[in-house]
Amino acid sequence: MRARYDHVNVKPAIRPDPEAVTVRAPAKVNLQLSVGPARRDGYHALVTVYHAVSLFDEVTVLPSDQMAVAVTGEDAAQVPGDKSNLAWRAASALARAAGLRGAAVRIEISKRIPVAAGLAGGSADAAATLVACNELWRTGLSAGELGELAGGLGSDVPFALVGGTAVGRGRGEQLTPALATGTYHWALAFGQAGLSTAQVYATCDRLRAARTVAGDQAKPATEPELSHPLMTALRSGDPARVGPLLANDLQPAALSLQPDLRRALAAGREHGALGAIVSGSGPTCAFLAKDAAHARDIAVALTGAGVCRAVARATGPVTGAAFVPGGQRA
Ligand code: C5P
Repeated sequence: MRARYDHVNVKPAIRPDPEAVTVRAPAKVNLQLSVGPARRDGYHALVTVYHAVSLFDEVTVLPSDQMAVAVTGEDAAQVPGDKSNLAWRAASALARAAGLRGAAVRIEISKRIPVAAGLAGGSADAAATLVACNELWRTGLSAGELGELAGGLGSDVPFALVGGTAVGRGRGEQLTPALATGTYHWALAFGQAGLSTAQVYATCDRLRAARTVAGDQAKPATEPELSHPLMTALRSGDPARVGPLLANDLQPAALSLQPDLRRALAAGREHGALGAIVSGSGPTCAFLAKDAAHARDIAVALTGAGVCRAVARATGPVTGAAFVPGGQRA
């Protein structure tokens, strides 16, 4: 199935100062994350329903003699400032694809999305960098070409380009839009420490293997399938129908690595969350609320219960990587 990038903004409405371009990109939660067996390349076949929420990182790119990454924000110390940074790799990949030898850029990342949190913050930074450098360097790649590059950088990067609500297949990089109506209100509980995505997938495999040996599971993980009840509920726009259908195969692994997350999930449920789930590989817990006021009540309750490092409220779906009006500096 072909990826769809029709509505990715590759050009700002007003041509910005060519000396700097700022793009923001959103965090995501997975409304469904069904994980199949490991593939030969080590990745897992999956079917997921991505949902972009209103928690954004902002990336500014500026011309420079050499590549550099500078990060600000609460989790800045945890983000590498070298070529292992996914945003740096995104800029390099775009320069290579466009035949720009020795092109360099200074990448300034203003982080609000927590790091190693299951919210695809690094992927958001990479997607924003692709769009920003495409503009700064006037490389003129189409949205589809940026999407191809994004898939090579990481499983969640193509979705950070498009945003909205979308079904991901393959290892997550093959996207089709999902028909969803309405606005969904979320409370997000950020964990005390991050989780490594690779470690969570490996733990998922281990737990499944142990269950198979114990005879709890008739057969090993099969090819994952899209939840049609969830798709129907999303079309209805009714969060009360969507909430009970949220599902994440990585949740048992995240809970086994951070057992305290159970307390956070329980606290959200006690306060009437329509759905309570670990986001992606965790440790962020996402709580679907009835409306904006309910999301605030859940966030207050989570803070009061002392079950997480910090809380945030967000709505979804929101658009993917987008130019920030006035974000370009002189
Ligand atoms: O694609 P990305 O670099 O974000 O993936 C990080 C890690 O998560 C991979 O190295 C792999 O261990 C795991 N992963 C996986 N199957 C997927 C996506 C990610 O096993 N579909």
